[in-house]
Amino acid sequence: MVINVHTKDREYPVYVERGVLKRAKELIGREGHVFIVSDDGVPAVWLDCLKEQYPEAPVHIFENGEGSKNLHVWNEILEDMLEHNVSRNDTVIALGGGVVGDMAGFAAASYMRGIHYINIPTTTLSQIDSSIGGKTAVDLKGRKNCVGAFWQPDMVLVDPDTLSTLTPRHFRNGLAEAVKEGLIKDAELFELFESDEWKEHLDEIIGRSLIIKRDVVEKDERESGERKLLNFGHTFGHAYETYYGLNGYYHGECVAMGMMTVLENEEIRTRLKAVLEKLDLPFENDADPEETARLVRNDKKADHDKITIVQVQKIGQGILEEWTMADVERKLGL
Ligand SMILES: NC(=O)c1ccc[n+]([C@@H]2O[C@H](COP(=O)([O-])OP(=O)(O)OC[C@H]3O[C@@H](n4cnc5c(N)ncnc54)[C@H](O)[C@@H]3O)[C@@H](O)[C@H]2O)c1
Ligand SMILES: [Zn+2]
Repeated sequence: MVINVHTKDREYPVYVERGVLKRAKELIGREGHVFIVSDDGVPAVWLDCLKEQYPEAPVHIFENGEGSKNLHVWNEILEDMLEHNVSRNDTVIALGGGVVGDMAGFAAASYMRGIHYINIPTTTLSQIDSSIGGKTAVDLKGRKNCVGAFWQPDMVLVDPDTLSTLTPRHFRNGLAEAVKEGLIKDAELFELFESDEWKEHLDEIIGRSLIIKRDVVEKDERESGERKLLNFGHTFGHAYETYYGLNGYYHGECVAMGMMTVLENEEIRTRLKAVLEKLDLPFENDADPEETARLVRNDKKADHDKITIVQVQKIGQGILEEWTMADVERKLGL
């Protein structure tokens, strides 16, 4: 399947296909040199597959984990690019999860005011959620994605085969975002998760999620209206992420809990809980309600006490609601 993304600056294809990593060079087909960025958690089998196609290409590997998503590691990548004489016409290829995509994307966005960038996401989360949208960033003093740029790739290669080496927890983590996409935009996608054979539909789950994200992002590149729908479960989710810290829950797990917190429709809550249980994703938590409310307020810098919340009253139709901090506190049982 090929999903074409049209943005203001660029048009690019997202290939979703088993084994597409083996065809990277054939598809990329670019003149000029490539510079590969990956991390040391990506299994050698995937990196070797890319290196075989680009035996001459420099490879920059950094230590895996969110802790590497900072300006120091970004600077090391840029210096390495300069040492290898990477030029304006060359291409950065990211091979890895969302951390690699964000780091390599931001390096490509900033090196010589922006060079070509190709993303090959290899985690469920990055395939479903970070391969479309053009957001690249690093964290600053613990604030996530504080410094970055919008920078579109030339091409994205999504190879579901690469997911086979993920830990079960990382594999499931990214699926929370697909469940979210189903709830806000695509009832059939949500229903795929309700079927007993959901795993057989993995490629369709990834493809449908990408189409939803593509459609939303094309309508609203800079996150003013429509794109806010993608934040379903994220207002409380981000609060949980901060509350439990770097070694607590993963992002998708926090989104799963955040969706359960915000959802008001009882029937949908029951159906979502059943799906999350099946996926072995958390649906409840023991975060302190007062602290959670404080984190929500901080995260949203609650504009005149108002925040925009995404709600779902009918599966497949997310809506935006204005809440006050009092509504947030009520939700948390305060
Ligand atoms: N730019 C965006 O739009 C966007 C969207 C969502 C998330 N993100 C960012 O993505 C990051 C999270 O991404 P993530 O969940 O992919 O985490 P990650 O990049 O840290 O990857 C998780 C772990 O899996 C390893 N890994 C990668 N591919 C593997 C494979 N095929 N087999 C085995 N192990 C593999 C990595 O080395 C890492 O240890 C966060 O920093 C988040 O801010 C960005
Ligand atoms: Zn998310």
